[in-house]
Amino acid sequence: MADKLILVLDEGTTSTRAMLYTLAGEWIATEQHDITQYYPQPGWVEHDATEIWERTLACAQAMVARAGGAERIAAIGVTNQRETVVAWDKATGQPLGKAIVWQDRRTDEQCQQLRAGGHEAAVQSATGLLLDPYFSATKMAWMLRNIEGADALGDRLAFGTIESWLVWNLTGGLHISDVSNASRTSLLALTGQSWDDGLCDLFGVPRAALPEVVASTGAFGTTKPELFGGPIPITGLAGDQQSATIGQGCFDVGQTKATLGTGAFILANMGQNPPRSEHRLLGTVLCEVNGTRSFALEGSVFVAGSLVKWLRDSIGLLGNAAESEALARSVPDSGGVVVVPALSGLGAPYWLPDARGSITGLSFATTRAHIVRASLESVANVFHDLGRAFGADGAPWSVLRLDGGMSANDWIAQDIADVLNIPCERPSDVETTARGAAILAAIGSGHYGSLEEARAMVSPIQTFDPRMDSAARDQRLGQWTKALAC
Ligand code: G3P
Repeated sequence: MADKLILVLDEGTTSTRAMLYTLAGEWIATEQHDITQYYPQPGWVEHDATEIWERTLACAQAMVARAGGAERIAAIGVTNQRETVVAWDKATGQPLGKAIVWQDRRTDEQCQQLRAGGHEAAVQSATGLLLDPYFSATKMAWMLRNIEGADALGDRLAFGTIESWLVWNLTGGLHISDVSNASRTSLLALTGQSWDDGLCDLFGVPRAALPEVVASTGAFGTTKPELFGGPIPITGLAGDQQSATIGQGCFDVGQTKATLGTGAFILANMGQNPPRSEHRLLGTVLCEVNGTRSFALEGSVFVAGSLVKWLRDSIGLLGNAAESEALARSVPDSGGVVVVPALSGLGAPYWLPDARGSITGLSFATTRAHIVRASLESVANVFHDLGRAFGADGAPWSVLRLDGGMSANDWIAQDIADVLNIPCERPSDVETTARGAAILAAIGSGHYGSLEEARAMVSPIQTFDPRMDSAARDQRLGQWTKALAC
């Protein structure tokens, strides 16, 4: 029989995918389905958890068939959009209402109340997170208060982030959450082994509804045999941004990656010391392998690829996403146009949930190429501000590793290098999120003994060196700062 393969389930915000890798890290195949986005009110974003499960399963089944059957799959690694919460009934396995997505701002009021109550410093010191509707705890509390029947379920109520929901369905009832996803809920202390009772009380989340917290690698359980024609072990779990950090091979302290997906997320490996940001960045668990927990400092940008999608689907400025690169190149600069990409508030380092997007600097000379270029430029502009915060927090970047679908755009990769004035590296395979989960699953199944041993699975890189002159950079950043202040 041919060598065994790793099956990765990569459930992102806008699509779900299943991918096959060899144990040496060679990508074999991908199956993908879009996920329906629900926007029932301004600031609200929801997903259908049943659709997520059914579409992920369909992708996985296609990949198992492609591999030649379940016996060919050594292990499954799961990686996922983080913070998004599903509530379900443990007795029936049925979701209660829609999943509340990480971008959803409906719990801003609870966050404001907690902030006014003086709780932010303690929450940040314990969890590394700020008080913002982004994180899972206030979403869970909202569900408990607002979904009819949720409270009455008592011990039958289950909460979980997406990896938790997928593992529940894959195994037929195992309720676990890996430590990297758990660290995004505001309910797990950075160094905690399990949920923090004080935090559960503060946010109003019943501990009994939460999954068991597990490491990033291990023999967590096996899939129900009927799903794939035989059981497959699940041995790797990670939130997508932590997974991308691993997929980029950022195994050493200080190594930093930026994933350009729906949003853009920059994580710097901080080793085994829990990071304490003083500049509005997040401390988060990177992974726990062989009993050792590593941490990362994170800058979360809520809008990146979703801005290009909005230009295409809602505004009609683009026929397809790939056209954005040619349009950006077709003009020498943005003609003074600046886009502030606050379509779902602003994340790090500003943390303004109420901020809304803007396009400034318009004139009769403005064309759609200028607006598209200014939209793409917004990524590097935000990264510039984040770079300052990382530096001030003691994690300066000498090189930034880029990945994610949007990083395949050479113009953006060069623009980020230019504005940050440091080299940017991009792997030949930009899908490092899935690659990270493949690495974790390969370790969890015993094929590799450590992250270092699994380094062979990391892709080779291409470098973009900065070449913008400082006067152009200063002018551009001056316009950005002005627009941000509006
Ligand atoms: O924290 C949210 C993040 O996990 C979403 O990732 O890849 O869907 O932009 P992505």
